[in-house]
Amino acid sequence: MLKLRDVSKKFNSLMVLKKINLDIRTGETIGIYGPNGSGKSTLLKILSGFTKPSCGKVFINDRDITEMPAEKRAELGIAYAFQIPRPFERLTVFENIYTTSLLRSDPEEAAIKTEELLYQFELSDVSDSIAANLSQGEMKLLEICRSVATQPDFLLLDEPFAALDKENARVIRRKIRMLRSMDMGIVITAHRSRILEGLVDRIMKIEYGILNRE
Ligand SMILES: Nc1ncnc2c1ncn2[C@@H]1O[C@H](COP(=O)(O)OP(=O)(O)OP(=O)(O)O)[C@@H](O)[C@H]1O
Ligand SMILES: [Mg+2]
Repeated sequence: MLKLRDVSKKFNSLMVLKKINLDIRTGETIGIYGPNGSGKSTLLKILSGFTKPSCGKVFINDRDITEMPAEKRAELGIAYAFQIPRPFERLTVFENIYTTSLLRSDPEEAAIKTEELLYQFELSDVSDSIAANLSQGEMKLLEICRSVATQPDFLLLDEPFAALDKENARVIRRKIRMLRSMDMGIVITAHRSRILEGLVDRIMKIEYGILNRE
């Protein structure tokens, strides 16, 4: 279980998150929606270790990881897919996934895993393309694929549908359905609840720094 306990976050005088409590179990998918600037990315970054809370604690399986950096948390099975994809731009699609797979697999295993993931994410055709040259839809797929390549127990997808046209959004939706069958705990953020309907086990709303059940 991945947990937040009384987590608050302040940027200068701006209180972005106020005493947030959240439990994420493996096998469950949670959708969190809220308007621009409501703290969705901040919340996921606190779970993944890219941001530290101002107060409160983060736990994985009752182990306190509040002070643990993101790379270490990745090794423990927490993966974060950035809202704005951050691939290794000068590497190929294959190299992006392979390099990430090495975090938790030996080289031979990682190569097999990479081929498998590229196939699953419909990226095999662009396997040798330089990441910087991908389309927006492919870039989003690569970002999610890269996060999955660490074989996480907890997968945090920050606005996987943002800035995508209908067709690309449909592809991402299909991929999330596939990921749901893999027994991870998944958190998905979005601007509106509608896109999360039928895709997640429960929907929560974040507004004015407070996280509420729908
Ligand atoms: N590093 C930072 N320094 C200062 N303020 C920040 C920082 N990161 C986020 N903020 C502020 O915190 C608030 C929440 O930002 P956050 O990115 O978490 O919102 P969001 O819900 O993800 O928004 P969006 O829907 O636009 O992605 C915003 O007002 C933002 O300007
Ligand atoms: Mg955001």
